[in-house]
Amino acid sequence: MKHRLLGRRALVTGGASGIGAACCRAMAAEGADVVIVDLPDARDVAEELCAEIEATGRTASFVPGDVRHPGTVAAAAEGVDAVVASAGVSHHPDQADLGDLLGLDPDAWRFVLDVNLTGTFLTCVEAARAMRDAGRPGTIVTVASVAARIPRAGVYSVSKAGVEMFTRSLALQVASRGIRVNGVGPGYIETPMLDGVAQVRGSHEWLSVWRERVPLGRLGTPEDVARVVVFLSSDESSYLTGSVLYPDGGYLLQGGSG
Ligand SMILES: NC(=O)c1ccc[n+]([C@@H]2O[C@H](COP(=O)([O-])OP(=O)(O)OC[C@H]3O[C@@H](n4cnc5c(N)ncnc54)[C@H](O)[C@@H]3O)[C@@H](O)[C@H]2O)c1
Repeated sequence: MKHRLLGRRALVTGGASGIGAACCRAMAAEGADVVIVDLPDARDVAEELCAEIEATGRTASFVPGDVRHPGTVAAAAEGVDAVVASAGVSHHPDQADLGDLLGLDPDAWRFVLDVNLTGTFLTCVEAARAMRDAGRPGTIVTVASVAARIPRAGVYSVSKAGVEMFTRSLALQVASRGIRVNGVGPGYIETPMLDGVAQVRGSHEWLSVWRERVPLGRLGTPEDVARVVVFLSSDESSYLTGSVLYPDGGYLLQGGSG
């Protein structure tokens, strides 16, 4: 089972933190060289992660950039075999949307859709073009959410539902070139983003409320998600495309009501 990605070049957006960082570590442990794309502010932590990966014998580099801007991923996608579009936000920094669509400022709506949906679109099509032009098959994994299936998180749910349909649409368009496109839809995963949402709600106690909603009885770890991403990026999933897998501890089993 080891080294399922040996010799492959992986590119992970949002790779400096949370689920993206766990994907970088897990893909490198399976033999991949890694390119991290993240905001310029993430430089220090991204470079630390690169050093950690290089110490294991793989190469790793950081490309600063904003996934909302065309060209960010194209500049880093040469020779890429496996892409993970993990960059995302839960809400606008100045307006915490907690599902209140009637109170949502249009700029906050645009911001979340720009990062989560347009950013995923730009990342994936720029990577798919690089794979097509190089005539090499490859894998693309998008990061949706259980929120795509539950209309409780306002514009965040809308953005992730868009990511799911984009995943299926792109999968159909590039299948004949041997490029597979799948998604993961995580449940509650312990990352800086989840901490941020708890803070916005006013209390860390929210983490225990969410834990109680999960049939498996615990919050997910970034590694729980990364293992699924490695599977979707490896030949073990060779006959899967256009699928979204949900590492959610069973959360969706109860219709998300919990
Ligand atoms: N944590 C959860 O419970 C959870 C659940 C479901 C889905 N997700 C999704 O997983 C993905 C990763 O989230 P996380 O929990 O690891 O969050 P995180 O905040 O730890 O990591 C997100 C990363 O994306 C980067 N990023 C944000 N905007 C960017 C931009 N415009 N350009 C480039 N990089 C940008 C951030 O700098 C950060 O490094 C997101 O798409 C999120 O919506 C998270």
